[in-house]
Amino acid sequence: MTKPLQAPVRAEFSSGPCAKRPGWTNDALKNALLGRSHRSKPGKERLKYSIDKTREILGVPADYRIGIVAASDTGAVEMALWSLLGARGVDMLSWESFGAGWVTDVVKQLKLDDVRTFNADYGKLPDLNAVDTDRDVVFTWNGTTSGVKVPNADWIKADRKGLTICDATSAAFAMDLPWQKLDVVTYSWQKVLGGEAAHGMLILSPRAVERLESYTPAWPMPKIFRMTKGGKLIEGIFTGETINTPSMLCVEDYIDALEWADSIGGLTGLVAKSEANLKVLSDWVASSDWAGFLAETAETCSNTSVCLKVTDSWFAGLDADAQAATLKKLTSKLDAEGVAYDIGAYRDAPAGLRIWAGATVEASDLKILTEWLDWAYAEVKAAA
Ligand SMILES: Cc1ncc(COP(=O)(O)O)c(C=O)c1O
Repeated sequence: MTKPLQAPVRAEFSSGPCAKRPGWTNDALKNALLGRSHRSKPGKERLKYSIDKTREILGVPADYRIGIVAASDTGAVEMALWSLLGARGVDMLSWESFGAGWVTDVVKQLKLDDVRTFNADYGKLPDLNAVDTDRDVVFTWNGTTSGVKVPNADWIKADRKGLTICDATSAAFAMDLPWQKLDVVTYSWQKVLGGEAAHGMLILSPRAVERLESYTPAWPMPKIFRMTKGGKLIEGIFTGETINTPSMLCVEDYIDALEWADSIGGLTGLVAKSEANLKVLSDWVASSDWAGFLAETAETCSNTSVCLKVTDSWFAGLDADAQAATLKKLTSKLDAEGVAYDIGAYRDAPAGLRIWAGATVEASDLKILTEWLDWAYAEVKAAA
């Protein structure tokens, strides 16, 4: 097979931190409020603006709170788990590494009594219809390490008694999130918007706030997790008065990403772009004699973290170490050519590839990437 002549314009296909938006330069940060207090008037205004713009782009209902919190998506999820759980039984869903991490938290760290776990292997989803939303539910909208997403929220009752806690870090800004079915939504900036890492977003429904104000967990709560004072929500957290100091440089970059999102048609534009990106990969997979999706059904196949497995019989005949070595050679080859960075499967996932297809990536680059994938696979196979 001849080597492709053209390289993608940008070789960043990592699933986090993800590619910056097209056209991003340092210039995007020129108005960053550096050397000023985040609690100054302009500091608070900038933080508030990022929250307001988030609400506008994501279509978050007016009565939901949006807060910027510490420690990225992990920080936001942990805040929710440690602050809200324990008031009633909880159903924990997991079908890949990140969901499994939340199960560990609840079972081994919080050690809650009434926990039901619903696990599925990479590529699959657990039976969503077995989940009881009169209990609390913790789930990941898009399993970033298996490329499997929930197809919808039909399994969540509108009049549920429990809270739904949704880790949406690789879904927000790329998939429609039905807010009325979600009580807690978290994500981080470096995913779909290609922002900078370290800050988490925590979005709470009125029912989640009601829980915070009416339930005090039996365990101690570190300052970084505390969302109430004297039994009342600390509203400031949700207007830009962050618990600890945010990076105003990262805030500026997040604002730049939100304004870019606006310029391409807001959420509708972002989702359409990501789905068009997935289509490039789906069309290629459909005609490939060696690659397939890890996701077992089209309706659960992620349009952001697209996970691929190798399907040809030569590869299937290799042992696990040889399979891993083959994929390592393939990804190293593409890295060395400067055409694709960071596309190996996540360390806990089955051997394969993972390619980001969120809106900051261009379909034209993905198309060119598929040619390089075919070339690199043929090369490593021939050399074996
Ligand atoms: C589904 C999911 N949850 C949690 C995380 C952890 O995110 P962060 O590094 O922002 O804490 C990730 C990161 O890839 C993720 O994809």
